[in-house]
Amino acid sequence: MPDTPFSADILDTIVQKTDIQPDATLWHLDMRELPPLSPEDIVGILHESSVIRYSELSRRQRRFQFVTGRLLTKYALSKTLGRPIHDFALVERRNNTPQPKAIPPIAEPIYYSLAYRYDTAACVISRSQLIGLDIEVTDATREISTPADKAFNAHENAWLSAKGKDQWLKGYYELWSRKESCYKLLSSKHGGIHDDLFWQVDCLDDPRFKWTTLSKDNGLIITICQADPELTFRLTQSPTYNLDNAFDIFKR
Ligand SMILES: CC(C)(COP(=O)(O)OP(=O)(O)OC[C@H]1O[C@@H](n2cnc3c(N)ncnc32)[C@H](O)[C@@H]1OP(=O)(O)O)[C@@H](O)C(=O)NCCC(=O)NCCS
Repeated sequence: MPDTPFSADILDTIVQKTDIQPDATLWHLDMRELPPLSPEDIVGILHESSVIRYSELSRRQRRFQFVTGRLLTKYALSKTLGRPIHDFALVERRNNTPQPKAIPPIAEPIYYSLAYRYDTAACVISRSQLIGLDIEVTDATREISTPADKAFNAHENAWLSAKGKDQWLKGYYELWSRKESCYKLLSSKHGGIHDDLFWQVDCLDDPRFKWTTLSKDNGLIITICQADPELTFRLTQSPTYNLDNAFDIFKR
């Protein structure tokens, strides 16, 4: 793999680090602080499996997020494991973060998650906990994409309804962010999407998970979801659908 053009010195000055309890570290940066990227820089940062995905992305900001997320992850892995950044490659996986690979191989377990919002790229790493990360922005000018009664369960909706009018939107995005971070954790654990498991989680007080929320004055909400890797999640039986009823709906 070619060397990344970004020296640790540059990254040391722009990447911010926040310790999250227990045993997780959040690494984040404002992408506008990175020097301009040349095509060679990009190929230097990305694994060949990422170059293919990158070429399929059309939006400029999304392309920048994609490259920055991988650069940040390699930097955070290098700091966490005490090894040079060039040791690491990130190999694409479907419905997941890229798989970290290193030469020599990474001996111990390592869990991480990635998220972006506008110009912020963030990566959270843990050596002992399964982890999921999400970033949202409380934005009163933007229409919410999913009504609360479709996104949240009865208990979560009761919690949200108890919020005052001025706190409702912030509560909505905090809850949404908990769900997204949990979704990423679950699909990392199971190597793919398990909607059945996801919809069983009460994102306010499920004892199998721990959420940490960092809010900033500018409306940014960063949520970290953690769980013990040994935890087992039981799949419930899929609901059965009676097709006769489906036809009844069409008859009406
Ligand atoms: C997958 C999903 C969580 C990604 O969220 P997003 O806001 O689009 O994107 P984010 O910036 O937060 O995260 C993107 C990164 O997450 C990682 N990621 C993508 N899918 C993932 C998955 N299934 N599990 C874990 N990580 C995943 C990737 O690394 C991705 O970055 P990359 O494309 O550069 O590799 C979201 O699109 C989704 O499908 N959510 C479903 C859950 C749901 O129904 N929520 C609404 C009801 S509450």
